[in-house]
Amino acid sequence: MRHFISTRELSAASIFNILNTAEEMRENPDLFSGNYFAANLFFEPSTRTKMSFLMAEKKLGMEVLDFQMESSSMAKGESLYDTARTYEAIGADLLIVRHKHDRWFDELAQKLSVPMINAGSGKRDHPTQSMLDLLTIYQEFGSFNNLNIVIAGDIKHSRVARSNAYALRTMGANVYFSAAPGFEDDSLGIPYMSIDEACEMCDVLMLLRVQHERHATTSHDTSSYLVNYGLTPEREQRMQDHAIILHPAPVNRGVEIDTGLVECERSRIFKQMENGVYTRMAIISILLNEWGFDHEHITEKCQTLKV
Ligand code: NCD
Repeated sequence: MRHFISTRELSAASIFNILNTAEEMRENPDLFSGNYFAANLFFEPSTRTKMSFLMAEKKLGMEVLDFQMESSSMAKGESLYDTARTYEAIGADLLIVRHKHDRWFDELAQKLSVPMINAGSGKRDHPTQSMLDLLTIYQEFGSFNNLNIVIAGDIKHSRVARSNAYALRTMGANVYFSAAPGFEDDSLGIPYMSIDEACEMCDVLMLLRVQHERHATTSHDTSSYLVNYGLTPEREQRMQDHAIILHPAPVNRGVEIDTGLVECERSRIFKQMENGVYTRMAIISILLNEWGFDHEHITEKCQTLKV
């Protein structure tokens, strides 16, 4: 793994390696050592992903270089590429990047001499979120084979939906979508079902937020969304006993899920957040172990690769 950019290119073996390493990290964070500097370059708002990376880095004993978009030279028109090169030049060993462009990594991946992890790219990829979702499912069921997993909500604007659809199919799960009219995306060839069917047949119901900030038109009336397309207490009652609820959060309580269900018995929403730390520790350590053990070494290695 040169960079961790998308679930599209991950094999089942490399996904299992991440999930197993995450469990090892929970038991023993000292498995990984090294004097590394990470830079968390978040060009979009984030609570969970940013803090989860920070916690993962600190648990791994790394130093973290700060970045605030508003006070950086981005405000003077500096590009993502020049910002990333700057962090590389001053000694960052690892870049964690979240950016609104679907393919921000294309330009950087070939030119940078340090590993990069995609912490969210536009509507396209969110591979670390997908890995923590898979860890949560794996803990529950011990396998992905033939699990019925329904991803329900604003599929069209969701990088979480896309990343999970690829990864879950690779792992042998049966993946379905459920979406309100206008929120579908047919490009992945995933079958659709109503939220009522979804609740009755699924082993895992993964709910998604209505992503207002990504909509072309600004207002989208969500007053009847819960009743028509969301998880109401009545639908939750019809779920199979063993079925679980996931949500990448932030949750719009009362829109895609009834507020009382966010912390119900079958909800694993806060478990997902906890798993995120260990999953990110695993991804960081696997990547850095593959690149080598110090910044000079990494730079040398990459220069050799370039010639
Ligand atoms: C998701 C994201 O940013 O894509 N959240 C997250 O990373 N936990 C989903 C969302 O914003 O709805």
